[in-house]
Amino acid sequence: MSKQKFTVTAALPYANGPLHLGHVAGVYLPSDIFVRFLRMNHHDVAFICGSDENGAAITLRAKKEGVSPQTIVDRYNAVISQAFKDFDISFDIFHRTSTPLHHETAQEFFKVLDSKDQFTKETSEQYYDEQFNQFLADRYITGTCPNCNSENAYGDQCEKCGSALSPNDLINPKSTLSGNAPIMKETSHWYLPMERHEEWLKEWIKEGKLDSIQQHDPKKWRNQVIGQCMSWIDNGLRPRAMTRDLDWGVKVPVEGGDGKVLYVWLDAPIGYISATKQWAIDNNKNWEDYWKGDRKLVHFIGKDNIVFHAIIFPILLKAHGDFILPDNVPAYEFLNLEGDKFSTSRNWAVWLHEYIADYPDKMDELKYVLTAIAPESKDSDFTWKEYQTRVNSELADILGNFVNRALVLTNKYYDGKVPTQGALQEVDQNVLTEMEAIPARISKLVYDYKLREAQAEAMNLARLGNKYLADMEPWKLVKDEANTERVATIMNIALQITANLSIVLQPFLPATAVKLGTFLNFEDNNWEAAGKSNLLPEGHQTEKPSILFQKIEDETVQKEVDKLNAAKEALMLKETSFAPQKEETSFEDFSKMDIRLGTILEAEKVAKADKLLKLLVDTGIDKRTIVSGIAKHYSPEEVVGKTVTVLMNLAPRKIRGVESQGMILMAEDVAGNLSFVSPEKDFAAGGEVR
Ligand code: 2FM
Ligand code: ZN
Repeated sequence: MSKQKFTVTAALPYANGPLHLGHVAGVYLPSDIFVRFLRMNHHDVAFICGSDENGAAITLRAKKEGVSPQTIVDRYNAVISQAFKDFDISFDIFHRTSTPLHHETAQEFFKVLDSKDQFTKETSEQYYDEQFNQFLADRYITGTCPNCNSENAYGDQCEKCGSALSPNDLINPKSTLSGNAPIMKETSHWYLPMERHEEWLKEWIKEGKLDSIQQHDPKKWRNQVIGQCMSWIDNGLRPRAMTRDLDWGVKVPVEGGDGKVLYVWLDAPIGYISATKQWAIDNNKNWEDYWKGDRKLVHFIGKDNIVFHAIIFPILLKAHGDFILPDNVPAYEFLNLEGDKFSTSRNWAVWLHEYIADYPDKMDELKYVLTAIAPESKDSDFTWKEYQTRVNSELADILGNFVNRALVLTNKYYDGKVPTQGALQEVDQNVLTEMEAIPARISKLVYDYKLREAQAEAMNLARLGNKYLADMEPWKLVKDEANTERVATIMNIALQITANLSIVLQPFLPATAVKLGTFLNFEDNNWEAAGKSNLLPEGHQTEKPSILFQKIEDETVQKEVDKLNAAKEALMLKETSFAPQKEETSFEDFSKMDIRLGTILEAEKVAKADKLLKLLVDTGIDKRTIVSGIAKHYSPEEVVGKTVTVLMNLAPRKIRGVESQGMILMAEDVAGNLSFVSPEKDFAAGGEVR
């Protein structure tokens, strides 16, 4: 491909929690691979990201933790940006939408649209939570999704099926704040009349044409992206509110905007522009070069972001004027974890920062596995078992084994110097021809956004080398002096393959590619060098290799699976154990209870009732019989002599033929264990409890 200009964006993660592997596999890793590849091909690239710090995702998290939204975004921006650095995602900038530059940029954008009459201002009734005095939009309201019946769809989108919604679409809506059904209340907002844009949108998405000029190749857009957009358009585009009644976010900069902020899905994509501006300032560039003119804009996103990037943001960009529209919106399906959806609230996740802390020298192992299973066209599943299998039998046994053999034998036979490539046999020629063809195949796949296959193709080069050495068995040939030249040729070819690997693996496994370069004393970051069979000249000195990939032990897999299950169990216990607080009661009602300390004098099992003990209790004023359901938790012997709490004036009742004159109060823990409630000091029977 001739040299081109690309602005590549990766969806701005909400700064309301850490990143998990689902985010990485479906946005950040593929965009990073794509950009690394573009850079190696000398395209002019800007790789833009940052944290999304406005909107209900942030304010709700702040409310849940009882801290300010600023505290939340500062905390998670730090966690997220550190994880990206450690994982070596090569953004040119990781910006923030809480910066003054972003607020100014988004406000300016809004003002231009407003002055061009691209909004309508409408007063309507919207859902409102009376208890919290707040209008309910976006994540402040949940209900059943009209498309997939998921019960937890938000007011602006359903995360299960990915469709974009409005609060009025929800079935059985309820407030996230109070849990109550909302009332309707009047408010005014700026709306984007999307229906005005239907015609050109259809042509642009389906045919790639804008004003009859070919803008993109629709065959390169993923089916699910075109499908989701067309189904949204075919259902009829409607005006969508672009402002909110909230106090956290970018203030509406025009008259009548007091107390209102921009809709987060209006300001967040503008965040790509403000991030570019900051990067341009820092690097002495002109930001407009990256958003206008002859340039390809590519948005890497998850499938729940499709309509925002392929419909709403393009409408905004076009309505504003001057801007280019996306050339592609490669959207990823969802990655599951051990057969279940990733979930922050259920703590069902592998967190990127935890992986980094636990396996600091295994970044490429994770990159490799996540790309190999990337949810490009359908949802996929991460399991620790598959992680182990792919690392051990692909990275270690194929790539690692080949490279190790090539370099160890070179060191052994030639003191590390590249031997002479002599006359080629047919088998050598075939291997070299195949090696030459691989880079072009990878290129085609990358430009088609098929990164999973592209990585597999790069690994095919390692497979080719591994098979070549295994078939040629130079370690056997070397025993006969007559084979000296033949062994040199085989080893030369193996080393040329290794040098090629150090190039073609760069986009996918950058740390491994650097290691290969170090082993070989060789560095070439130009994609066009890949495929050549003379990258290493005869006599070139290589180094002694170290092991590229350590195998993943069964214990590691078990430890990780146990960790996940423990998190799940802890949550289940929490969810299922503690009943919510009972209804309010009066002090008067409470004082009607006569509760006293009693000492158990005698205890015996009740015949044919394995849960019951019959107790004789000294209550200070009398000795009475009480039947208690504690036999599964206490033996008769161990309860005698214990001081317990007795509800004295409970109406006597017959239990299994024995009259029980009161009740022993018990505490229950999350696992359902029972314990007496006993005084902390050594009090005698009869003491009153109140
Ligand atoms: O879904 C999300 O996580 C959003 N924070 C993505 C925003 S992408 C862009 F528009 F900023
Ligand atoms: Zn849905």
